[in-house]
Amino acid sequence: MPGVDKYLILKNQPLDKDLYEMEFLAPNLVPTCEPGQFIHLLPSSTLDPLLRRPISLYDVDRKKETITLLYKVVGKGTMLMTNVESNDYVDIMGPLGNNFTLKADQNVVLVGGGVGVAPLVYLARRLKEIDCKVTLLHGAENQNQLIKARVEQIGASYKPATMDGSYGYEGFITDLLLEEIDPRDIDFIYTCGPELMMSEVVSFANRNNISGQLSLEEHMACGIGACLGCVRRLRSSDTNYVKVCKDGPVFNFNDIDI
Ligand code: FES
Repeated sequence: MPGVDKYLILKNQPLDKDLYEMEFLAPNLVPTCEPGQFIHLLPSSTLDPLLRRPISLYDVDRKKETITLLYKVVGKGTMLMTNVESNDYVDIMGPLGNNFTLKADQNVVLVGGGVGVAPLVYLARRLKEIDCKVTLLHGAENQNQLIKARVEQIGASYKPATMDGSYGYEGFITDLLLEEIDPRDIDFIYTCGPELMMSEVVSFANRNNISGQLSLEEHMACGIGACLGCVRRLRSSDTNYVKVCKDGPVFNFNDIDI
């Protein structure tokens, strides 16, 4: 059973309407966190466990012993999260789920759509530590939602696309991938975001014989494999179901139809 504890909030600020960064101090949690994992956060003092929200590890600072989350306001739970203030304590369970596989000295491309970019940032940090060349492609609605400074501080190359054209490439991030990235330069691809976007990324990888991993976003009531709320078949021909919270959220491209 993963640990549950209360953690001191250092910051909870909007980047844009409905998009927030929350940072908390977590000395006991930080050493156990791997890229791709998530935490389950109780956004208010109510004891209703159904209100817990799964949020990806967006960034982890092992020196400062802090964890940062990037979250979008999409309902009651995440709306309650916006009320959390600095110096509050928040109930968090984790880390949960499996993690991305990391291999040293690779040329890797990361493709994130919207808030789905979150797990790719901590991933980029860890990949840079093992001497990978990292390019992060990030599709967002507008320039306020971009995270250029954080990604460049990590040492990764950042290629943004915005739907309104306010910064970077105008249009879909998958079009930027097709137009500006030479598949011959890629050893491995990681992606997270809307399934339609990930489907196009997987098709690009398959056409060019590139391996990769994706992270699925699912509703998760319990986060620990108990409620069956997140089950799905990876392939339409499968008879077995996986629990995204426990068997995932990370899966290999060649294990899933998407
Ligand atoms: Fe309960 Fe996955 S969220 S089984």
